[in-house]
Amino acid sequence: MDINWKDLPFGYFKTDYNVRCYHRDGKWGELEISSSEHINIHMAATALHYGQEAFEGMKAFRGKDGKIRLFRWEENAKRIRRSGRGVMMAEVTDELFIEAITKVVKLNEKYVPPYGLGASLYIRPLLIGSGPEVGVKPSSEYLFMVFVGPVGPYFKEGFNPVELQIISDYDRASPNGTGHIKVGGNYAASLIALDRGKKEGFASVIFRSAADKDYIDEAGPANFFGIKGNTYITPDSDSILPSITNMSLRRLARDMGMKVEKRPVTIDEIVDFDEVGACGTAAVISPIKKIVCRDTGKVFEYCKDGKAGPISTKLYNALKDIQEGAADDPYGWNTIVE
Ligand code: PLP
Ligand code: COI
Repeated sequence: MDINWKDLPFGYFKTDYNVRCYHRDGKWGELEISSSEHINIHMAATALHYGQEAFEGMKAFRGKDGKIRLFRWEENAKRIRRSGRGVMMAEVTDELFIEAITKVVKLNEKYVPPYGLGASLYIRPLLIGSGPEVGVKPSSEYLFMVFVGPVGPYFKEGFNPVELQIISDYDRASPNGTGHIKVGGNYAASLIALDRGKKEGFASVIFRSAADKDYIDEAGPANFFGIKGNTYITPDSDSILPSITNMSLRRLARDMGMKVEKRPVTIDEIVDFDEVGACGTAAVISPIKKIVCRDTGKVFEYCKDGKAGPISTKLYNALKDIQEGAADDPYGWNTIVE
């Protein structure tokens, strides 16, 4: 096996095994191991027609001590249950979730990147309505599966600052819709805006609050945060995905003696922020050097010296060191895969 760990993109990578479990007649069956990259699915499955599906994104890290660590898996398990409830699917229990993840990581252990090269094993749990329906209603059968693959940074810039675009002519989610859960429809709704943003030279787009457009919602597949003086500020909105990375950064910021504010953030106020960034499992922290408002042409600039700001850097290192076992884990966020 010859993998160039240092230059891995964030993308699909074929590994040896995945795991699957069906929910039929109201209960979960046995966890199955598969080496096929394909699933055999009914053409009338509700996932295919009505988007009855949810997914997760998490990472396993090879620690400094050689051990493999999962970061806050209980939060991903809770979220896939919340997402499942939001589109009326069977609930994945903690027991099934951790059994599946432990098994698939162990089976693909050789694909967990070595410590210190900026790569990790991305874990993608997926829950889909697999049973046939033609009327709009929930499936009577579900498939939960997990595949993994080694990845590098989500944005090719890694921890180098990126440029984002604020838009108002597309929304990824609506106030009483599904933006707060991780279901495929939200991502389908974001594709045109993301594709256009990339063509216009931006790493991603920032969606605004759909109803009034006055506030910042989130930065494509990542939450948004800003630093102003000694305060960490991140949007509060019903239509953004509650990010586990963001929750962890808030905790780290508080414990570094910073003030934390989770509240609606207007577009106008970001001019006064000292640092801004996008955060998520895939994005980790992506510092932002420039935000362009597509409607008005207004430009906000940060990282004037071309580098991430000091507080973003401190938060990034604190998070990464815990995840990779290079620092103590006082919060009990890691689970070692044994
Ligand atoms: N927002 C969206 C829309 C996402 O897809 C993700 C990724 O999961 C995030 C935010 C970041 O969440 P987390 O930190 O839990 O990965
Ligand atoms: C993640 O951060 O894990 C995500 O799921 C983001 C994206 C690839 C959808």
